[in-house]
Amino acid sequence: MSELVSRAIRGSFFDFTGTATHPQKPADYARYVEEGLLLLNGGKVVSLQTWEAGRHLLTDKVEVTDYRGKLIVPGFVDCHIHYPQTEMIGAFGEQLLEWLQQYTFPVESQYHCEAHAAEMSAFFLHQLLSNGTTTALVFGTVHPQSVDALFSAADRLGMRLIAGKVMMDRNAPDCLLETPEESYSQTRALITRWHNRGRLSYALTPRFAPTSSPGLLAKVEQLRAEFPDTWLHTHLSENPQEVAWVKSLFPDHQSYLDVYHRYRLTGKRSVFAHCIHLEEGEWACLQQTDSSIAFCPTSNLFLGSGLFNLRTCGEKGIRMGIGTDVGAGTTFNMLQTLGEAYKVGQLQQYRLAACEAFYHATLGGARALDLDDRIGNFLPGKEADFVVLDPAVSALQQMRQANSRDIWEKLFVLMTLGDDRNIAHTWVNGQCVWQPVPEENT
Ligand code: GUN
Ligand code: ZN
Repeated sequence: MSELVSRAIRGSFFDFTGTATHPQKPADYARYVEEGLLLLNGGKVVSLQTWEAGRHLLTDKVEVTDYRGKLIVPGFVDCHIHYPQTEMIGAFGEQLLEWLQQYTFPVESQYHCEAHAAEMSAFFLHQLLSNGTTTALVFGTVHPQSVDALFSAADRLGMRLIAGKVMMDRNAPDCLLETPEESYSQTRALITRWHNRGRLSYALTPRFAPTSSPGLLAKVEQLRAEFPDTWLHTHLSENPQEVAWVKSLFPDHQSYLDVYHRYRLTGKRSVFAHCIHLEEGEWACLQQTDSSIAFCPTSNLFLGSGLFNLRTCGEKGIRMGIGTDVGAGTTFNMLQTLGEAYKVGQLQQYRLAACEAFYHATLGGARALDLDDRIGNFLPGKEADFVVLDPAVSALQQMRQANSRDIWEKLFVLMTLGDDRNIAHTWVNGQCVWQPVPEENT
């Protein structure tokens, strides 16, 4: 092997190597290397192979980290989350539109304060990493300083992150509104400052159609034309009252998605969160424009929004990743989120197998974000973001894992019983950036 190797990781590895459009037969392109060796050069993967095949490459210049007994998977990808809502997770009693008014907007109004934004950014990123999530697509607030704080903190950690300032000019408290011109110029300045800086990327982030006037949407369209490699991140068809409201606000449009589509906001780098109450024509539009979906199971259950149609999404081959959607979602943890996704499937006679679930949380999420050339698995040249899972951290988990016959059952037990205790270490860009603080011996 001519390529330089600076570090090596020993343990069991699981990832997906295929780029199939939808995981109908995921076992065909999943890879489980029970006694494996991952070679790194700085922040990049050199190769993943069996220990036997690779051990001769370990010179005394290569630092080896031994994770035998652990299961190492690519870092989780969270395709939809709101960092300022971390502090209001678990707000009681309301569905979407009342929940926004009563809880969300008051909390978001605090992010004009740079010190608060910096403190919450650090807390938020720590939550992601301690739950094994290494990349996320993130909403800020309407305040540009909210996004400056988040990008600065992510940059220091070397994380791959996509984020954007919320754009909104109606149907919210005055202190959170802006004019379309302000929204344009502030967003433009943020793109210039952050987009493609290190591992950071910018997402144009109109909150959703009800808080966007036609004039604001025209500004989003203009920015997308000026910066065609930015992402577009918004909400779509989450709640029946919201859908009816969009129809009354935009009577000339055929559907909710048609509002975004007519402003040219659909496409390969467009990510629409929720997509629960879609009409046939909207599914077709997502498919034809190669737009992608963030499925947010804990949020959809917590706000009583409805059941996402996993079957239709798979049949249409629409790229889909998992979003925790904190603070409407109730956990940062992808294992727990996959467990809830399974239950959403069960309520619709859809069996979400562990292989499909872990695909969506890793390579599938990377594909939904159009980042699969950089992250999502252990192929050579990929960025070395991964999570070291301890498969059994309680007596119950130990018993159940001991009863599991194969890797699929082990993964299913992890997504059913697992939580943040199962995250042993999180690596970003070839560096360990999170591990539990050892308990004090008192
Ligand atoms: N729709 C518009 N804004 C929001 C939000 O902050 N959270 C969720 N879940 N849906 C939204
Ligand atoms: Zn959301």
